[in-house]
Amino acid sequence: MKKFPDNFMWGGATAASQIEGAWNIDGKSMTVADMKKFNNKLDRKNILSERQMTIEKIKSAIDDTSSENYPKRRGIDFYHTYKEDIKLFKEMNINTYRMSISWSRIVPNVFDEKVNKKAIDFYTNIFKELKKNDITPLVTISHFDLPYIAVKKIGGWVSKKLIEPYLFYCKTLFKNFGQYVKYWIPFNEINGALFTEWNAIGLKGLNENIQNNYQALHNTFVANARAIELGKKINDQFQFGSMVAHFETYPLTCKPEDVFENLEEKRKRVYLFHDVTSKGYYPKHIFHFFDKIKIKIDITDKELNYIKNNTVDFISISYYMSGTISKDSKDSTEGNLVRMGKNPYLEATDWGWQIDPIGIKNSISDLYDRYEKPIFISENGMGSEDALIDGKVNDSYRIEYLKKHIEQIYESINNGAVVLGYTLWTPIDIISSGTSEMSKRYGNIYVDIDDYGNGSAKRYKKESFYFLSKVFRENAI
Ligand code: BG6
Repeated sequence: MKKFPDNFMWGGATAASQIEGAWNIDGKSMTVADMKKFNNKLDRKNILSERQMTIEKIKSAIDDTSSENYPKRRGIDFYHTYKEDIKLFKEMNINTYRMSISWSRIVPNVFDEKVNKKAIDFYTNIFKELKKNDITPLVTISHFDLPYIAVKKIGGWVSKKLIEPYLFYCKTLFKNFGQYVKYWIPFNEINGALFTEWNAIGLKGLNENIQNNYQALHNTFVANARAIELGKKINDQFQFGSMVAHFETYPLTCKPEDVFENLEEKRKRVYLFHDVTSKGYYPKHIFHFFDKIKIKIDITDKELNYIKNNTVDFISISYYMSGTISKDSKDSTEGNLVRMGKNPYLEATDWGWQIDPIGIKNSISDLYDRYEKPIFISENGMGSEDALIDGKVNDSYRIEYLKKHIEQIYESINNGAVVLGYTLWTPIDIISSGTSEMSKRYGNIYVDIDDYGNGSAKRYKKESFYFLSKVFRENAI
């Protein structure tokens, strides 16, 4: 038996826009997530077009006030079912629940500093329910659901004018929920600014104007630092984490050209975000890169000071897969929002995500060595099409996936890294972020709803539910 450290945080992660539903009630305004239409002709191994927003898509999303074609508007109706669902989380022995709060519920108009009391009540009730069940919340402040009004008025995060409204939203959360919440993540996958721009920063994409992507990224770095400063002033016990989508890459061959290419990828696709949020400064190479591609980012000394003085307490990552990098190969695989090369030693999910448990150990070890801050695995899991037969779901493939990844987390702890916790994606089936499908299921609890919202919405425990409840109870694998 491989025992985890005492107080290890075990749990599940979800996001408001993928779970809550209730997209237009009790004062909530529309978000960028509510505007993502389900595409029934989806090519699962090539979802690039799903990431792109166009003026036509925006217009039809605004004109269509139903939730029929927009699954994130429905979620799994957690807005109304949270009590029963949290009860199931408890039964699974979850001690930590990573959830996100919807900005568009709390301050629907973003710019007017008017707080929606109904939203405060809704989240207060959730925190009370979690407390009753001895579950510690880990709250993501912004998880791919920017209020659309922020895009319409100022173009989203490309504008620095969004920083103050974001800080007002943060202050509202810290003041209202600080008595329940100690762990905060200001931005989900902050590197999303470079590869899933509609979701993360409200740009139509795909990298139409790379200067805008980097400017928006910088603005979120500043907002992240200032949220930490503000939070610590309100309560010095608050703990803040980064959240970076981790893309573990290997050189395709030992050809020096491939090794160098991989190093370049790591600098730009992994370390940049941690250097800024954990060390508190931009790596010099990035300015060289900006010069090389002839872009100019508006960065002031004052902002660099915020970044320097307000770094995170822990590093969190989402980890799903790995890929290869080669100077000349065009061979690529679908990834968690980016494309990387295939690895002949690895198998992949139906969506082409290459399964690499040892990669999670590589990632943890590398990040811990480099930054020496506790690591939190805030997302990891397997999306697959599950079959509900006679009220049962035998998801042995998911058990295998989770078991192997948890074992490698144990190995990395055994190897000297400090890991605070693991919140799998997801304890319960929710809508996919990338493809807005219901049929890409990650949960340990099956939700009887299909891509069109049909079904009983009844919850069923999958086999993986029982597997994880044992791991969590025994604090061991
Ligand atoms: C991460 C996101 O990128 O991956 C989640 O933080 C998302 O919101 C998860 O759901 C899995 O991606 P997908 O596209 O399969 O839902």
